[in-house]
Amino acid sequence: MNSNPIGIFDSGIGGLTVANAISKAMPNETLIYFGDTAHLPYGEKSKKLIREYANGITDFLLQEKQCKAIVIACNTASAAAYEFLRDRHKGEIPIINVIDPIVESLVGQRTNKKIGLIATNTTIESGVYQEKIHRRASHLNVRALATPLLVPMIEEGYANDKISHTLIENYLSKTELSDIDALILGCTHYPMIKAEINAFYQGKVRLIDSTDIMASKLKNILEKENLSCAARGAKNKFYISDSSPHFDKSAQRFFKENINLEYLNIWK
Ligand code: DGL
Repeated sequence: MNSNPIGIFDSGIGGLTVANAISKAMPNETLIYFGDTAHLPYGEKSKKLIREYANGITDFLLQEKQCKAIVIACNTASAAAYEFLRDRHKGEIPIINVIDPIVESLVGQRTNKKIGLIATNTTIESGVYQEKIHRRASHLNVRALATPLLVPMIEEGYANDKISHTLIENYLSKTELSDIDALILGCTHYPMIKAEINAFYQGKVRLIDSTDIMASKLKNILEKENLSCAARGAKNKFYISDSSPHFDKSAQRFFKENINLEYLNIWK
């Protein structure tokens, strides 16, 4: 039994899809969410810079907020900074990334052979997904495609309209993704357009995203390490490092509830 909060971070508001799944799966837990909107998008930045940002946020969540576990709710930060953070905080607290639970879910399943991956430029170029899948599920042939325009499209609220249909169709029709039988949505924004992607494939391609997989992985870890909270704790808190009415509006869509984003500059 541990009532300390769970720290969750992302480059912005995309990680709210993961935070929402965690809050549904573990309603007693208190969440502290940090969206690094001042440095968004991570998907176009170098690994070195993302590591610096992720390190600063993790220090804030541990030192200022006494978090009992850290969730990297961003594929790009998971690809660029997970190993660094894990090694830096070895033996202190669990640090969980969004990539490993997806890769683990593929181990031992034989139905899919050709698996597509869509994600930001930095995630695709890092090769982390491709390498981890090759190591743990070598029967899978991974076909990767960077889809950098999807994040701004989703953040601007384009969904179920001409613009989103055109862009999604354009990306998913590329030869890199031809004949796939499953597709990894390798960005925490993409669950927001899952239904549209599913419609493009007419339900014939299995779509894999990290939200529910991640929440059940975290639940297992907290139970195993005796870190779960038995009774409803304090209220969830949501911080962003740069504020604008734009984020407030989008945040409700991502978390599926009214939430209050507080501006907090940890980069002083
Ligand atoms: N949420 C990030 C991810 O999952 C993408 C957004 C960004 O580029 O900052 O990769």
